[in-house]
Amino acid sequence: MNVTLRGRTEHFRTVSFDAAKNSVQLIEQRLLPHEFKIIGTKNFRETARAITDMVVRGAGAIGATAAYGLAQGARAFRGRDLKKFSAQVELVFKTLAEARPTAVDPVNAMHDVRREMARGETVAEQQALALAAAEEFANEDARHCEEIGRHGAKLIRNGMKILTHCNAGWLAFVDTGSATAPMYAAQAQGKKFHVFCDETRPRSQGATLTAWELAQQNISHQIIADNAAGHLMQRGEIDLVIVGSDRVLGRTGEVANKIGTYTKAVLAARHKIPFYVAIPLSTIDWNLKRGFDIPIEDRHESEVLGAWGVTKAGRREYIRVANPTSGARNPGFDVTPAELITGIITPVGIFQPKELWNKLRR
Ligand code: MRU
Repeated sequence: MNVTLRGRTEHFRTVSFDAAKNSVQLIEQRLLPHEFKIIGTKNFRETARAITDMVVRGAGAIGATAAYGLAQGARAFRGRDLKKFSAQVELVFKTLAEARPTAVDPVNAMHDVRREMARGETVAEQQALALAAAEEFANEDARHCEEIGRHGAKLIRNGMKILTHCNAGWLAFVDTGSATAPMYAAQAQGKKFHVFCDETRPRSQGATLTAWELAQQNISHQIIADNAAGHLMQRGEIDLVIVGSDRVLGRTGEVANKIGTYTKAVLAARHKIPFYVAIPLSTIDWNLKRGFDIPIEDRHESEVLGAWGVTKAGRREYIRVANPTSGARNPGFDVTPAELITGIITPVGIFQPKELWNKLRR
């Protein structure tokens, strides 16, 4: 998307690859909205660490990062021994797959890359195919988000108030975003609407990232505390909810997304407000049979016990908020059952969650 900094507007992708340096290029999302900086990873281990430490986050963005990271690890191999090369690729795959467990996009993306690599007969051929496949995954992610926008924009009418949770914007993908894509498309069609961004504690991706994105695109918005949505729904101040997802089960239509999504879906059902989930196809898990089996990332308690911010002097600092002798529990995601979801906005149309298997499996 376009970013305007000090009066200059430039187009950026969240994730890209510098082939000459064999380096994955990432927007350092932990610094936003206070500083816009691109960093490069030197090797696949650094790429995996960037995913774990949330330099890059969001299902599609970590999918593309893992795809590039696999190509990066494959291209770093020296020699012609295919057996040794395959062992190296397996190690890279495992390291990147373990970097964050809940989103399925990294594993789906790396399977795409490995499938393409298998067409090569030499190490050099496979290395070239790996990078081409990673580029294709990133391009497809961007195309899918555009298509999500085309389908989802129909849901947005003039004057609507829309709630979104966490960041399923372009920073969570390669470009455009999933939950935000219908908003950007509706804006391009001249529609006027207002967005409420859930703050999304503990890491506040709504307050920091989604709000920054919407401000950059001149979309009317306000940040609300996570606990405010029920009150606004009760007063008729929310007409539509659109969120993203880290894993949608193709068999059941259950949706894993940032912690707090389930609560919002329950509230939306109570108030008969349409609740949509926007995803590219790489977010669908066709294998798992029940939402209970989705691995839910447990993150460090410090995220709940305090917060990161920027001081008046411009220094990024962590501040302890909670009682000093208390600990915390910090599950990163929850699972929303299919019956609470009005529709899944995909690049190929909007479906009921339970239709995914029959209509999209092929
Ligand atoms: O922990 P994060 O910031 O990676 O979580 C991101 C979310 O939960 C988003 O809502 C999700 O990835 C859906 S959009 C890709």
